[in-house]
Parts: sequence; C-alpha cells; structure tokens
Amino acid sequence: MKKPWSGRFTHKTSGLVESFTESISFDKRLWRHDIRGSIAHAKMLAKQGIITAREAAAIEKGLLEIAAEIEAGKFRFRNELEDIHMNIEAELARKIGPAGKKLHTARSRNDQVALDIRLYLREETEDIISRILQLQKTLLTIAEKHIDTIMPGYTHLQRAQPVLLSHHLLAYLEMIERDKGRFMDSLKRLNVLPLGACALAGTTLPTDRAFVAKELGFKTASANSIDTVSDRDFAVEFLSCACICIMHLSRFAEELVLWSTEEFGFIEISDAFTTGSSIMPQKKNPDVAELVRGKTGRIYGNLMSLLTLMKGLPLSYNRDMQEDKIPLFDTVDTLKACLEVMNAMLPGMTFNKQRMAATAGQGYSTATDIAEYLVKKGVPFREAHEITGKIVLDCIKKKIELHEISLKELKSFSPVIGKDVFPTLDPAASVRARSSYGGTSPSQVLKQIKRYKKIL
Ligand code: ARG
Repeated sequence: MKKPWSGRFTHKTSGLVESFTESISFDKRLWRHDIRGSIAHAKMLAKQGIITAREAAAIEKGLLEIAAEIEAGKFRFRNELEDIHMNIEAELARKIGPAGKKLHTARSRNDQVALDIRLYLREETEDIISRILQLQKTLLTIAEKHIDTIMPGYTHLQRAQPVLLSHHLLAYLEMIERDKGRFMDSLKRLNVLPLGACALAGTTLPTDRAFVAKELGFKTASANSIDTVSDRDFAVEFLSCACICIMHLSRFAEELVLWSTEEFGFIEISDAFTTGSSIMPQKKNPDVAELVRGKTGRIYGNLMSLLTLMKGLPLSYNRDMQEDKIPLFDTVDTLKACLEVMNAMLPGMTFNKQRMAATAGQGYSTATDIAEYLVKKGVPFREAHEITGKIVLDCIKKKIELHEISLKELKSFSPVIGKDVFPTLDPAASVRARSSYGGTSPSQVLKQIKRYKKIL
C-alpha cells in the first residue's frame, strides 16, 4: 500500500518500523471522532471555496460509508497505514477518487489527532460525570435509609466518636461531588478547537477556524498553532482528575473490605458481588472492592506515564506523543468500570445495625461528651479534658464502660458532675447533640440529604 507521505522516499519502509510505529491497533478507537472532525473540516473547505461543494458532499458521503463499515466490523484496518487518520483517508481516496485526496488540505495529522482526542475526552468526561452522579444517587438513597443507624466514627482507625452511618456515607458523596466539579472544570480547557493549526504554523490557505469550532461544539479555536499541536495538558488534567477520583473510590473500597471482615462485622456484601476460594470452602471474599483499590495503582501509573512522556519535550509535535493514548484509554476504561461496579454493588449490601450501634458505644467513645458537659458547667476545656481523661483511666482500670461508673465516683473527679451527665453518655444522644453545622446529628445530616436531593 502506497503511503500518503511516500513522495520523498526512494526505499520502502522496513516492516519492523511499520509495526514499531503503528498506532492503529489502539487509536482505531477514535474513528468516530476522526470522521466527525473530517466532515466539519470538509464543510469549511467548501464554504471557503478551497474545494467545491460537490467535492465536500462526496467526502461526507464517503466518510459516512466508511463509518458504517467500521461500525459493522467490515473495515480492514492496515498496519502499514500507521494510524486511524491515514487508514480512513486512504480508504476515502480509494472510494471517491480525487475529491478524497483534497480532504487533508489545510490540516495535518498533528492537529487532527489533537482534535480526535479532545472530542473523545469530551464525550468520556461527560460519561464519567454521569457515572459519578449515579453513584452519588445510590449513596444518597442508602444514607437516607440509614438516618438512624449509629456507628463508631474513627480517627487513626481507633474508635473516636459515635456518628451516623448516613453521615459517613455522605462524606464519600461529598468527595465525589468535588471530583465531578473537577471534571466539569476540566471541560473548559478541553473544549478548544485545535484543528487548523496544521503541522505547527497554520496555513497560507483562507481557512475559517471559528466555523469549524462552532460546527464541532467548541467554545473557541486555539490561539497559538505551535502550542496547539504540542499541548497535551488536557489529557494530563483528565488523568489528574481521574487519579483523585479513583483515590476516593479506593478509600471507600478499603472501608468496605474492612467492614466486611469478621472482626468489624459491619456489612455483608451480596453473593453476586463477592467471590469464593478455590481451596477454602467457607470463604466469601470482597474481591470487587479489592480490585477497585488495586486498579488505583494503574491509574496513578497512567498519570505518571503521561507526565513523563511530556517532560522536556521540545516544541512542537513529537512522535513520542503518540504514546499518550495508551494510558488515556486505559484510564477511561478503568475508571468507568470502577464507578459502575461500585454503584452496582452498593444496593445489595446489608448493614449490621446492631453490631455497628454496639461498637459505637464501646471504647469510651463518648468521653468528649463528658468533657463538653463539663465545659457547659463552666470548666475550662483543657481542665475538662484532663478530668475526663482521669475518668477514662479509672474505667480502664476497673474494666468498665463510661456509663457503668457511679455518680459518686464521677463526683470525686469533679464536683460539678450531676446525674444529668448520664444521658449524654448514650451514643444516640451523643450523635443527636452534635448539631453544629456539618456535624453528625440527624438534624444536620437531614439538611445535607435535602441539599443533595436538590443538587442531584
Ligand atoms: N498517530 C499519530 C499520533 O497519535 C498521529 C500524528 C502523527 N504525526 C506525524 N507527524 N507523524 O500522534
């Protein structure tokens, strides 16, 4: 097959080079975007009188035929034509003849590939945003159902204070709300048209880039042609957003792994979302959550891979940049799959409310409530902290919980303590009382649920 760039060559490309330099094996994924971009480009060329309306119509028809062939799995992708751009263009020329050879006027593969990736990422970013939204809705439904489920809240993975399960779940909802915001914000910088920058310096032909931008739904056309073909910031940014998002999912996944242990016993993941062991018949493992945690490493690696790829690259386009697609595509696939599987797993999960509530009351988790009780009686907080610490130490020695200590004993630590301290030691009361803005009380959590119902 003759190469579109073969004019200045006298010798054939080595087969080794063809297989080493090809990207068609992975960039064929961009075929829709490539065709969409080409149709818009051809329309512009005709509008500007660079090609005739007839030629543009033939180009569009030919490209649509190619699209149908690819869709039907009938298109033959050729390694020797390197990439998706030349595969489609060569087939177009074969199909429609001379008009097909005019399509590549006033563009280069450098701006073309930048366009394809931007179109692709715009679509995928929107898809990811809608998957995050879906996961938020699922979390919200569970949070609403569990507005009266109390669990231990942790710091350092040590029981800290009782909290509402809803509050804990809404923490994740909040985290991925920020992810959504980051992805949405990234669209602002993504949504810029690169086509028309040509190889790097623009063109002598009378193109209309604003027209193409409008045609393809871009806010503007890029302002510097050299930057345009060199820039992969939008891909780095996408990967950065993906890293933060999967980091959040990995933390949630880790908690699900922990919570499903016999030791915690907080949740049971449904059979449909767990797997067994080939040797230990009793096992039911949280592999889905573990793999979400595990795939995080891949996505981080992908960001590092692209950052390293771009580091120190001189302007403008360099073939190194062809390697951007592999980590990008892998990240899109992985993140989408993680969001989907987490969302599907959650509704079938059951919470052991008794176990959660029982553990919430153990381990002196209402000690802060005593300290704040003392503050309300006029004791400075530092002193209240010290007094309560002594009470806890005494309970540890006696191997009893806080509510088991007698009033007489309590009074020996501080005379201001009355029997009205006991109600504050109940985990439910403790939770109810934490009604500061953003706190764990049902009144506050319900406010957040209401707010999210509006936003989502
Ligand atoms: N397949 C190439 C890529 O993905 C397209 C651009 C090639 N440009 C070039 N001058 N060889 O980057």
